[in-house]
Amino acid sequence: MKDKIAPSILSADFGKFTAEVKRLEAAGADMVHIDVMDGHFVDNLTFGAGVVAALRPASKLFFDVHMMVEKPENYVSEFAKAGADSMSIHAEATPHIHGALQKIKQAGMKASVVINPGTSVEAITPVLAMVDMVLVMTVNPGFGGQAFLPEMMDKVRELAQIRRDKKLSFEIEVDGGIDPRTIQLAKAAGANVFVAGSFIFKGDVEENIAALKEHLAL
Ligand code: DX5
Ligand code: ZN
Repeated sequence: MKDKIAPSILSADFGKFTAEVKRLEAAGADMVHIDVMDGHFVDNLTFGAGVVAALRPASKLFFDVHMMVEKPENYVSEFAKAGADSMSIHAEATPHIHGALQKIKQAGMKASVVINPGTSVEAITPVLAMVDMVLVMTVNPGFGGQAFLPEMMDKVRELAQIRRDKKLSFEIEVDGGIDPRTIQLAKAAGANVFVAGSFIFKGDVEENIAALKEHLAL
């Protein structure tokens, strides 16, 4: 599967998102990771579909929206209209994960399921055949700049094995603490979509994206 770098705008300058997203596109990002937080599911607040709608005319990049909100099913049509390409929803955020994923697909977006560090792969095996991507959190969600949890690589390996055994085709994304060293661990375990926030936005965005890509090729 193609390796993809997904910079998280959580670490961008909130005062100039449009310019930041244009800068990412020019710097070779494969998608934009958009972290939506509601202050309930996680202890932080960010932004909603209005920001996605505002960014949409500024970029052709794939918008990978990570919903850290309770009852994400309530926001599906709003984000589809705003121009999200994919919606990632947490298995822990709704008692109706299957129905919520169906709703995302019906709205014409790619559907992705996310598991927190404390959630095992077993919790999502019933929905693996219907998703386009699985996001394995490699930090506890809520904030950028936290340390990568290497023990999450067991879950990435397990998912890659299930994908082989059942001949499925979902991508595997990792999110949290990705840098040139940890991206190699995640790739070796079987991930192909790599979210990075603080690493990319600290210093030169173009150089940092190039550094991540170089380490994927090693
Ligand atoms: C954390 C967010 C991440 C965050 C990653 O809740 O889901 O997308 O931006 O940031 P870094 O790369 O700094 O760990
Ligand atoms: Zn995220």
